[in-house]
Order: sequence, then structure tokens, then C-alpha cells
Amino acid sequence: MSVVKENAALAALDFVESGMTLGLGSGSTAEIFIDRLGEKVAGGMKVVGVPTSKRTAECAIEAGVPLIEPDKVDRIHLTIDGADEVDPAFNLIKGGGACLLREKIIANASERMLVIVDASKMVEILGKFPLPIEVDPFGMALTAEQVFDALKVTGCKEAQTVLRQMKDGSGPLVTDGGNYILDSKCKAIPNPADTALALSQIPGVMEHGLFIDLADVLIVGEADHARVIELSRD
Ligand code: A5P
Repeated sequence: MSVVKENAALAALDFVESGMTLGLGSGSTAEIFIDRLGEKVAGGMKVVGVPTSKRTAECAIEAGVPLIEPDKVDRIHLTIDGADEVDPAFNLIKGGGACLLREKIIANASERMLVIVDASKMVEILGKFPLPIEVDPFGMALTAEQVFDALKVTGCKEAQTVLRQMKDGSGPLVTDGGNYILDSKCKAIPNPADTALALSQIPGVMEHGLFIDLADVLIVGEADHARVIELSRD
């Protein structure tokens, strides 16, 4: 297990209080957090989690973290999730694990979003990590053309887009929501808010992996501790 991810996950626990409803993110760092949260639950902490993927739900059940369906919660106090890239304004690229739609639904509904990463995820400009875009399989080629145009018109010099495949080569990867993922190799996304808006206006785009103005707290795991950086949105 990665020590830096572990340190980030442990520091995130300091933000969790008994009685909270938590959004549980997806990916390897979020899973470490869920394991540690399970230990707290075993020790008496009372929390419920809203999972952002089937895989996270399985992980939470295994860790002993009680779950609740999103439509049964009044509020989500805090979401804890990983990221593929983070820029200095706390804008994120997410979706490397293909869970971006559900991750964004839950993060957007949360009072606070806490992002746990290792230092390799910190970038000056988003876009080296291919931008995941979740699309309806219907008319996907038409949607891909519109995605290409939206990226170009908002300043991305490159916008080569590929349909994500299953690792075993059995065909296109299908998300928990039954959609496909396009990965756009932009290299740099100079105007992430503009790009996010343009992508959101394409009907076939279910959601894109740009998380703009959603993260409130960033925890960067280091070898022997974690840096906690809180963003003030005043
Ligand atoms: C899942 O779709 C992603 O958004 C993950 O949160 C992201 O890929 C980070 O994953 P790791 O913690 O495994 O790097």
C-alpha cells in the first residue's frame, strides 16, 4: 500500500465527526480512506456513507461502513474523494476510474468536498492526464465530434479523443450508469471553466471530468505526514 496515500487518507479522518453523512469517493486513495473509516466505525463512530460507485459500495461493505442510498439523505456533510489532477485553484480532473458522473453528483450535493491525493497529482495546468468525458452510447461519434470542437474552441491546442476500452479487450468500458467514456488527450486545458461549460452544453455528454469550484480542502500525502490546504471561497 502507498504510504503517501495512506497519510492523506489518515489526515482526512480528522475532518470526520460522529453523526455525519459522508460521500465516499472512488479510486485507490478513497478506498484506503474507507478502510480506515471502517476501523473508526468499529470503534464506535457513527457515520453513514453514500458510495459513488459499485466498487466503492463493495469496499465500504467489506470495511463495515454503513451505507445509505443517495435519495434517502437530507444532507451530505462531507465528501472525501481522490483526483487525477489538481491545479492551484483546486480545479480537478477526475474520472480515471470511470466514476466521474456519480462522483460529481455526490460532490455537488455535499456541503464540503475534501480531496486526497499524492503530490504527483498537483499540476500548474490541467490536461496532461487525458480528460475523461462520460457520454451516452447513442450517437457517440456525433458527440465525439462536438467534444473535439468544444475543446478546440475553448483553447485546447490538442483534442485527440479515444473511446475507453475494457482492460481485457472485450469492448468499450461501460460505466456504472451504462455510459461510455471518451478520453481527450488535450495535454493542456488553459481555460478549464470555459471548457467545462462548453462540454456541459453538448446533449450527448452525461458529464465531464472537470470539477470546477467543488473542492474545499486538499490533503496532499507525503512520505511522513500530510499537508492540509483549505481554500477560502469568500
Ligand atoms: C475515479 O473515477 C477517479 O475520479 C478517482 O478518484 C481518481 O482516478 C483518483 O484515483 P486514485 O486515488 O486511484 O489515484
